[in-house]
Amino acid sequence: MEFRIWRYDPERDAKPRMESHQIETARGMMLRDALLEIKRRDESFAFRHSCGEGVCGSDAVNVNGRNRLACITPLAELKAPVVVRPLPGRPVIRDLVVDMSRFYRQYEAVEPWLQRKDPDPEKEILQSPEERARLDGLWECILCGCCSTSCPSFWWNPDKFLGPQALLAAWRFLADSRDQAQEARLDALDGPYRLFRCHTIMNCVDACPKHLNPTRAIGHIRELMLKKSV
Ligand code: FES
Repeated sequence: MEFRIWRYDPERDAKPRMESHQIETARGMMLRDALLEIKRRDESFAFRHSCGEGVCGSDAVNVNGRNRLACITPLAELKAPVVVRPLPGRPVIRDLVVDMSRFYRQYEAVEPWLQRKDPDPEKEILQSPEERARLDGLWECILCGCCSTSCPSFWWNPDKFLGPQALLAAWRFLADSRDQAQEARLDALDGPYRLFRCHTIMNCVDACPKHLNPTRAIGHIRELMLKKSV
């Protein structure tokens, strides 16, 4: 199977190039296995990976035009030549490794932790099964960045628009019955960019390897804002 891999070392190369590799594939092989084979051939090839199970989120790359996790992308699903590029819209550190600092800063900006006004109870804060169920489809995010880096609004305004991942996280806490900072959270999302730069293009939904739906979460936040303002 032919692989075309994006190679670029900003310290050495004048410009990026695509490098071609023929790799013998076997049943059950994932894209990460092919990238590891390329790494065996050329130690200077850089890409991130860790768990190999779709859990850590570190090996997100752009494959044939779509953002995916290499470790859970079966080669059998891909059309040859398999074109692998770094996640779009992020500065490249080397080859497939991109700088995700801005993405993490946007996540941090939504204060993704429980905030309480009441003093902490002695034991746990109870939730009904229904309240807990509202968090399903939200807590599973692994911060791989596939969604935000597939979003044109995030490419164009990465410093102002929070992006689908951060907004999914914002809704995860707005929807949590134990959180008591709803008003402050909504105030922080107000304005033309942070939330409202979402144009419901929905690339994020297509890209999420966990099948989460940031566009729906953004819609819920908008509804809540509307309710608060009337
Ligand atoms: Fe951890 Fe793929 S290596 S998600």
